[in-house]
Amino acid sequence: MKTTEGIDLVYGTDNLSHDVCDRAIEALEAGHVVFLPSYGFPVTGSDKPLFSPAVLNKDAKNVSYNPATRKLGGITTSEETTALLQDMMKRFADFAQELVTRLLPDYRNGLIQGRASFRPVEIEGRLTSWRKDDTRLHVDAFPSSPSQGKRILRLFCNINPDGRSRIWRIGEPFEQVAKRFLSSIKPPLPFSGALLQLFGITKSRQTPYDYYMLRLHDAMKADERYQAEVEKIELDFPAGSTWLVFADQVSHAAIRGQYQLEQTFLVEVEQLRDKDRSPLRALERLVGRKLI
Ligand SMILES: [Fe+2]
Repeated sequence: MKTTEGIDLVYGTDNLSHDVCDRAIEALEAGHVVFLPSYGFPVTGSDKPLFSPAVLNKDAKNVSYNPATRKLGGITTSEETTALLQDMMKRFADFAQELVTRLLPDYRNGLIQGRASFRPVEIEGRLTSWRKDDTRLHVDAFPSSPSQGKRILRLFCNINPDGRSRIWRIGEPFEQVAKRFLSSIKPPLPFSGALLQLFGITKSRQTPYDYYMLRLHDAMKADERYQAEVEKIELDFPAGSTWLVFADQVSHAAIRGQYQLEQTFLVEVEQLRDKDRSPLRALERLVGRKLI
């Protein structure tokens, strides 16, 4: 089973050929991970104090960063460390935006830069609820910020200072996941999306598409037998590497690793080269109706 498309790109390369951009877009839309082993985020000497789980607030899973407002979340640090974090996250958000717009020019007009995050805690052995446990295979869906059909594209950088890899697992293709779990998911109630928004549970309207994606995420993670028995492949992302994935399509789990940067982008379905491969179209085919 093919899961990754390796592209040998070096940070600082001026021109990206059409062929490289084509390969990246084709691979992403086919549900593969685009892996850039030599395209690392340049960590500087001043970032050093940030390599500690102590930068995190005790209730937070990640440091979050909003590139639009430059605001940080999930931190408990001194003013000095906050300024260092702000500096690193700004550089990272710019790095990610630049890479995605150059590597995936087809998406430029429908690309929305979302939040970025810094994940300073070792994943292995971390105690959490099953729903938040990212060591279980899942597809991404946002409970409080419905994507309303837009694709969730994520860029990750392993910046581990001790050279340790980040280990992922990749499961079966999206349509197979959906076929397996959809029969156990009841259709959404009429007006449920409007009510969730009215009571402030979601920031925008939860469409039937968002409803099914959240239920799929939960059904996958809650099924211990599925987690144990489904066919999966382990991937090793070395320190200094970068990878991109449509996280709403690729069944993934993060098994081991510490110190990762992540940037989320939303991509309009209209910008895709092949809209039929999107989770929206796959679910619409399976459910037999429009979902947004
Ligand atoms: Fe995820």
